[in-house]
Amino acid sequence: MEIKIFKTEEAAAVAAGRYINNFVKKNPKAVIGLATGSTPLSLYNEMIKGCKEGVDYSGVTTFNLDEYVGLPVTHNESYRSFMNRNLFSQININIRNTFVPDGMSADLETQCTDYEERIRSAGGIDIQVLGIGSNGHIGFNEPPAPFDSRTSVIELTEQTINDNARFFDSKEEVPKRAISMGVQTIMDARCCMLLAYGSGKTSALKGAIEEVPDTMNPASALQNHPNVTFYLDEAAASLITKQVREF
Ligand code: GLP
Repeated sequence: MEIKIFKTEEAAAVAAGRYINNFVKKNPKAVIGLATGSTPLSLYNEMIKGCKEGVDYSGVTTFNLDEYVGLPVTHNESYRSFMNRNLFSQININIRNTFVPDGMSADLETQCTDYEERIRSAGGIDIQVLGIGSNGHIGFNEPPAPFDSRTSVIELTEQTINDNARFFDSKEEVPKRAISMGVQTIMDARCCMLLAYGSGKTSALKGAIEEVPDTMNPASALQNHPNVTFYLDEAAASLITKQVREF
């Protein structure tokens, strides 16, 4: 695991953005796994800047980690709508090559197995972008999250519903279920980059990086990944004592 600590979120996002933009320059048909939440927004701005400066996203394929069950695409908080608004409409990607699980599907189980199949037939994910929930979730893999899980329907925990209520008019409007890539689906990506900023993530990060891997902290599974980098700001990294690289 490589842990990079930056003075600010902006500096972390610039470094993560440079990594993705350079990868796409060298691999025009890259397959990139994407995340939602407030954390990746500054990274997406760097990808948008890169595209404006000539990085060609037209051959890139993307797979999002997750989607709420029961929110139509037209709902502002559906992850498809979030991605269209915050990234896809601002880079030259072919929207047909952007995949987000369909949380409105009448057959959610088939939707999950099809999503796994689609990732496989795209050749697997080159770089998976991750955030982390305050309870250590990655995607929507809530604790306890079996490390061998595949894309499935997840019941959201009370903590996640509370955390995400800020995006909705009321807590009652937050969906109770989501489709999420599994922990194993994420682990299959050839490279993972986990971004986390601010003091709300310190204990989840401590567990993920420094404690024995445990299904109660799903992000701790990443300790067994051969190529994972954490991009943290100083506030998020305040409990980390392991050897790290400071930027
Ligand atoms: C949601 C997403 C996660 C994300 C988390 C953190 O629950 N499913 O993928 O990592 O939010 O969100 P934020 O970045 O807003 O803290």
